[in-house]
Amino acid sequence: MRVARLDSETDFEGWRGHARSLLCDGVPPEDVTWQVGESQDSLFAILDAPAPPRDPAYKPRVSKRFLADAKLALCHRDPERFGLLYRLIHRMQDDADLLSNAVDDDVIRLNALVKAVSRDRHKMRAFVRFRAVKGERDTFVSWFEPEHRIVEENAPFFVRRFANMHWSILTPERSAHYDGKDLRFGPGAAREDAPDGDALEDLWRVYYGAIFNPARLKVKAMGAEMPRKYWKNLPEAELIAPLIAEARKVEDTMVEAAPTPAKRLADYAYPEPDLPPDDALAALRREAAGCAVCDHACHATQTVFGEGPLDAAIMVVGEQPGDREDIAGRPFVGPAGEVFHAALAEAGLSRDDLYLTNAVKHFRFIPRGKQRLHQSPKVGHIDQCRWWLKAERKLVRPKVTLAMGATAIRALSGRSIPVAEARERGFDCFDGRAGLATVHPAAILRQVDERDAATMRASLVADLYRAREMADAAVPALSLSGS
Ligand code: URA
Repeated sequence: MRVARLDSETDFEGWRGHARSLLCDGVPPEDVTWQVGESQDSLFAILDAPAPPRDPAYKPRVSKRFLADAKLALCHRDPERFGLLYRLIHRMQDDADLLSNAVDDDVIRLNALVKAVSRDRHKMRAFVRFRAVKGERDTFVSWFEPEHRIVEENAPFFVRRFANMHWSILTPERSAHYDGKDLRFGPGAAREDAPDGDALEDLWRVYYGAIFNPARLKVKAMGAEMPRKYWKNLPEAELIAPLIAEARKVEDTMVEAAPTPAKRLADYAYPEPDLPPDDALAALRREAAGCAVCDHACHATQTVFGEGPLDAAIMVVGEQPGDREDIAGRPFVGPAGEVFHAALAEAGLSRDDLYLTNAVKHFRFIPRGKQRLHQSPKVGHIDQCRWWLKAERKLVRPKVTLAMGATAIRALSGRSIPVAEARERGFDCFDGRAGLATVHPAAILRQVDERDAATMRASLVADLYRAREMADAAVPALSLSGS
């Protein structure tokens, strides 16, 4: 038995060093005990620091994706996580594709840890509220109670977002301090160490009161989005009960009032995605993994994010992942994917040439016995999920955009346009670029009449071919309306 000692509960580098030397020495997972903190006397061989590998030529196999997941999973409170991660990396030496096996128990556990930590990280980003402490230079202090050990992992986000402020985030186990230059970490604190109430709180209340829409009140969904355990530290939370109580009255007044002119999608302000410069798309994908905004996200196995090269000239947008995509975590790998791949090949394109994504990133279904029956996303889901599509488009900047089916057209244009009309005339995307439309591969599969299916297949191939020609000719993707 070997005992691998780690400096702290989140000592990722320590875990990685031990895992490397244990793998080099061929130590099976069941022969390792992971210990955090000072070594205790032990009958076993203690590895205080990772031992130099006995065989320096041996290079363990490890993917970037696994390391990114492992770093997040390590922030979870599950005491078994060090062993789980070592078992996975040990197994991956003989099975490089292990992580794609979404029904493997270890992979399921890893995904659950990553999802829980990502969600907690997301909530911390949304619910940290700073209070000003007056001094020579104003400092902003906040109190937050995360579920997992995410302070160190999450602090760089706050550095980027509040780069010009001096701030501290206090939590029961760890605190983070930033002085406009350096980020430091210290021990945990108590609730009383953080100040209560300041002028900023009034601002939060005004903001929350202003964005609260009584006509859209869904108390259950609100509870999922802003769980009660965070309320005690949110200044705006005290408004929730009175606003709900008032909602019916205000709704009646809104119904009676004259309608306000509809806003164009482009008029809405979207928050900018927060992206580290080095690997923005991977960071975005990781953020999306924790997204639980829509009501069906918690039933899906995982977020199915877009994939493809950042410099892809063509972006193809589908509807939402299906059953197979939900399990594999990749778009278009099921039956609709087969139709799509065949059409791509006929149009002289390959999947690697494209950035391929979906309008909605979680599988929506109803269970029927052992089956999960696809349900189309509602307009609200499409609109909620557009945030990710918008962020993807900012990074990829395709020359040509092809929407497959009505959901993708709605997501990209913000309007419900019939597929035939959008196919004929094209449409304007929310970012001012032109969009092409085509039929959805799944619609071809649903055709009962063979001739109808063949006609639709030919349309899909022709539209893909047209997209390819436009990309080859580098036709700039300007808005159709010229604005
Ligand atoms: N249908 C879609 O729209 N997207 C997929 O990823 C799979 C099926």
